Amino acid sequence: MDNRAIGFFDSGLGGLTSVQEMHEQLPNEKVIYYGDTARTPYGSKSPATIRKFATQIVDYLVSKDVKMIIIACNTVTSMALDPLRERYPNIPILGVIEPTVKKVVNDRCTSVGVIATKATISSNVYGDNLKQANPDIEVYSLACPAFVPLVEEGIIDNEIMELMIKYYMDDFVTNNAFNNLILGCTHYPIIAGQIKQLYPGIKLYNSSAEVIREAKQYLEENDMLAENSSIKDRYYASDLSENFIAMTELLFKDRESKIKLVELRN
Ligand code: DGL
Repeated sequence: MDNRAIGFFDSGLGGLTSVQEMHEQLPNEKVIYYGDTARTPYGSKSPATIRKFATQIVDYLVSKDVKMIIIACNTVTSMALDPLRERYPNIPILGVIEPTVKKVVNDRCTSVGVIATKATISSNVYGDNLKQANPDIEVYSLACPAFVPLVEEGIIDNEIMELMIKYYMDDFVTNNAFNNLILGCTHYPIIAGQIKQLYPGIKLYNSSAEVIREAKQYLEENDMLAENSSIKDRYYASDLSENFIAMTELLFKDRESKIKLVELRN
């Protein structure tokens, strides 16, 4: 048993979709979340900048004595998973990409689309890992850089977002033969409803959820599950944007939690 919290982080509020999944699958686990809302989006930044920001956040989470870190961000996973694991070899650090690839491969998909940020798509981490596990799989990739800023602004369930989805995805879906789609950004489950409605024949794979299955297995195998403890969940952000607060309160209204501004110095 280990009652310490699990550290999560993302460039903003997207990683909250992973936390939501954690609360469903492992309700006893306590969470310390860091959303870098002041510096979002990461997906259009350089690999060096993304690594620098991610290292600052992981150092902060480690200072809070977390038992595991979940990189609830595909962009950081694609750019910084290995260096972060090297920096903290004694803390389990899980990224969102490996578990998602595993699930797609286990489901024997023969073709799959991947939508993600520019950084994740240009790294080709999904393509490389999928092909390594199954050389015959067809992978089609598309960067959708405007989705994250819109979601961060709370422009979600309306016609602007619908137009944006169609703008990026109509040709992609029409011109490529896939009926499975990886939501390769943890912000995208927030718009999964609209994507499903627009392209009903496509099965969605959710990276925010897959990593939690992996975390559960790790905690079980290493006897690290928490028992009911009185610690509160904590949500930190580099800018307490209205939407970060609203989303956190809405998603986790049934749990006791604290939200606080924490700026990380360069
Ligand atoms: N949620 C992050 C991801 O999964 C978004 C990155 C960004 O800020 O662009 O990639």
